[in-house]
Amino acid sequence: MAQRYIRVEPPYGGLDDLLREEGEKTLFLVCDEALRFLRLKAYFDTLETRLGIRAVTFSDFAPNPAYESVVKGVVAFRAAGTRLILAVGGGSAMDVAKCIKLYADMDPERNYLEQEIRPNDVRLMALPTTAGTGSEATRFAVIYYKGEKQSVAHESCIPATVLFAPDTLETLPAYQRKSTLLDALSHAVESFWSVNSTPESRDFAREAIRAIREHLHAYLVNEEKGNEGMLRAANLAGRAINITQTTAGHAMCYKLTSLYRLAHGHAAALCNKALFPWLAAHPERCIDPRGEAYLRRTMEELDAALGCASTEEAAARFGQLVDSMALPAPAAKAEDLPVLCRGVNPVRLKNFPARLEGEDIEELYREILGL
Ligand SMILES: [Fe+2]
Repeated sequence: MAQRYIRVEPPYGGLDDLLREEGEKTLFLVCDEALRFLRLKAYFDTLETRLGIRAVTFSDFAPNPAYESVVKGVVAFRAAGTRLILAVGGGSAMDVAKCIKLYADMDPERNYLEQEIRPNDVRLMALPTTAGTGSEATRFAVIYYKGEKQSVAHESCIPATVLFAPDTLETLPAYQRKSTLLDALSHAVESFWSVNSTPESRDFAREAIRAIREHLHAYLVNEEKGNEGMLRAANLAGRAINITQTTAGHAMCYKLTSLYRLAHGHAAALCNKALFPWLAAHPERCIDPRGEAYLRRTMEELDAALGCASTEEAAARFGQLVDSMALPAPAAKAEDLPVLCRGVNPVRLKNFPARLEGEDIEELYREILGL
């Protein structure tokens, strides 16, 4: 199913048209707390007066949303009596909204995670308020059940309509602005070298890298054109990982996030900053079934996308970009190393095109943390 992309801006007349077209009397709005700071808030507050469409808001979830929050969301969605969901926010709001859509018609007496996912007629629209996760373009949702990460995946949860509202990025705090950008960049780079890459995924990833490079400065100084360009870049990177999934950078970053409370994109970029030169130095460890020569050609394509003549130079450029964000380094101790090594996601690791042994991973963590 082809997604449609619509750019909207205050006073969001384009969104009015879209909601009228959907024909529902109630809109189920899944949003995070960032909505309070956005001009969009007033839009939804006055929706009933203006269009006769009631907005039922669900925001009872935290970052890294728990299964229980999704269950509450499904109850609220059923009570709202609509088939239309709009997710407004970052990755967590998108993940919760996707799960509510997938679970909407399932048996509430049984665990949703154990039931077969079937497509339904609930329409899901997404308006991302960060330029990072690209979650609005993927079939994946991450929720936590009894503290364990669960990856929910189904084609039917890809939002049919994506709304780009560059003004929603104006109030992003600096750390979030930088770390979400690094998440999008990490998605594009990891997708490029993933063993699951295809010509189509590499086109998305290449285009994402091009857009990130083009809009980086304007985005960092919070210009509208930069914000819009980065929203599109993050979306392209999302479409790339929708095909390939992420690789070692994401496999290794999750424990860094929880242990040192780093933002996800910050942690992923620190891992890729170490992995990129490691991969450049170890083509002989290739496990991509298409072979070492294929991997070398892929890396040459990635080098070119980053404007570099060699993989060593591309790895250095990636590292310089991460360093230029001047993000605080995690305060790590050597005792953390075993915890970090045990926390590596083996599924994501398999998507990395070169074999990483346990000792390589420990060495990479030492480098990442300056130990
Ligand atoms: Fe990510």
